[in-house]
Amino acid sequence: MSGINYSEKIPNNVNIAGDRTLQRALEHWQPKFLEWWRGMGPTDFQGKDVYLRTAVSVDADGWAQYGAVKMPDYRWGIFLADAVADRKIGFGDQMGEPAWQQVPGEYRSTLRRLIVTQGDTEPASVEQQRLLGHTCPSLYDLRNLFQINVEEGRHLWAMVYLLHAYFGRDGREEAEELLSRHSGDADKPRILTTFNEPISDWLSLYCFTYFTDRDGKYQLKSLAESAFDPLSRTCRFMLTEEAHHMFVGETGIGRVVKRTLEVMKEIGTDDPAKVRAAGAVDLPLLQRYLNFWCSSSLDLFGSEISSNSAANFANGLKGRPDEATYEDHVLREKQFELKTPQGTERVPMLNALNEVMRESYLKDCEIGLKRWNRAIERAGFPALKLTLPATSFRRSIGTWAGKPVSPEGKLLDQKEFEQGLGRWIPTPEDRAFVHSLMKRVAEPGKMAGWIAPPDRGINNLPVEHEYVKLH
Ligand SMILES: [Fe+2]
Ligand SMILES: [Fe+2]
Repeated sequence: MSGINYSEKIPNNVNIAGDRTLQRALEHWQPKFLEWWRGMGPTDFQGKDVYLRTAVSVDADGWAQYGAVKMPDYRWGIFLADAVADRKIGFGDQMGEPAWQQVPGEYRSTLRRLIVTQGDTEPASVEQQRLLGHTCPSLYDLRNLFQINVEEGRHLWAMVYLLHAYFGRDGREEAEELLSRHSGDADKPRILTTFNEPISDWLSLYCFTYFTDRDGKYQLKSLAESAFDPLSRTCRFMLTEEAHHMFVGETGIGRVVKRTLEVMKEIGTDDPAKVRAAGAVDLPLLQRYLNFWCSSSLDLFGSEISSNSAANFANGLKGRPDEATYEDHVLREKQFELKTPQGTERVPMLNALNEVMRESYLKDCEIGLKRWNRAIERAGFPALKLTLPATSFRRSIGTWAGKPVSPEGKLLDQKEFEQGLGRWIPTPEDRAFVHSLMKRVAEPGKMAGWIAPPDRGINNLPVEHEYVKLH
């Protein structure tokens, strides 16, 4: 069944009406969610009409419907991808056995932890971005921000459904906690560090959606492989929504690059001070933003050597993204060559799966860079090519944690490293400059001077469409 029932209080395609206890528990949580949304979601735009998409089916094509909606009226609900008939476990020691429709007792706390950690990131990012609406570079971008925000709210619903439906009382308590931790809160912060970094400018938003939402994509892909079938189906549908978030990041950075290249051509120089004076983002500054957000997101994959990731894989809880593309799905015999500060070490593959995931994530990150670099090259500035930092740069988790490594991956002495940081990650002056660019542009079709217009609008509408009605 892929149709979604919108006649109920909580739209869903899992027949929650068939389980009165569950329905009541979720209906009890719903007003708390709305209260959180009003208090911690985007400020000051709750009464405005936003051109949003809403899921109407879980089929890959034609799953969404578009229309003007006030955000608090968005129909947040519970949508799982269709079940795969006779689905079998695709990896680990129980490979080939039927997937689980209930949580096996021995994996209960681990699965709950995985779901809570994923769930925590969803409202966290809404909190991080709550002030951005005031400085949008265009109505098109403002709409995209709000689309991402409501969908992250939907992703919270996705995880809360699993907690309520499969984890009893503990699950209900965790669902409450998901609304009581807050991004950057001194007493009750969000679980993962990156989700406590404020996102107070749009360049950071594009980097966040490019790098951090992409980490989300990889986490969801690996959970979509899970033997716990409801989790797999939940994550598969979340991935459909997630693609737009990364699109916003990739095209956002691409449009910044495009505008900067135009300005460099106009003023006939790539001198950062002159590019800034002309109101555009110089490429070395963009490089520092990329370094910051990429390295911060790399930590989200965890330690290079991890007995937890080994157990999660062996037990069938969490696979590798695109598990089917690998040959060996058990990995009891395989080794992995891991680069550490002490040199290359051979470790059991099972223990190195976080690193395997990090590597495939970085390959995915390269795709946008290739596109942006083509534009930079075509404009005649090949020396200003953008790059990704080495995985050992500025890490705070794992074998490279706290090691003084350059973005090129060279181990330095501490002093050299500290001096270098000012060239490698945004300086206070960089941030102040970016903030000085953040002025709201709210006339339909108009763009801020530091960013090029998108190639096309949303859902075949023109770029000039009034995507958010502010008046
Ligand atoms: Fe999400
Ligand atoms: Fe996302």
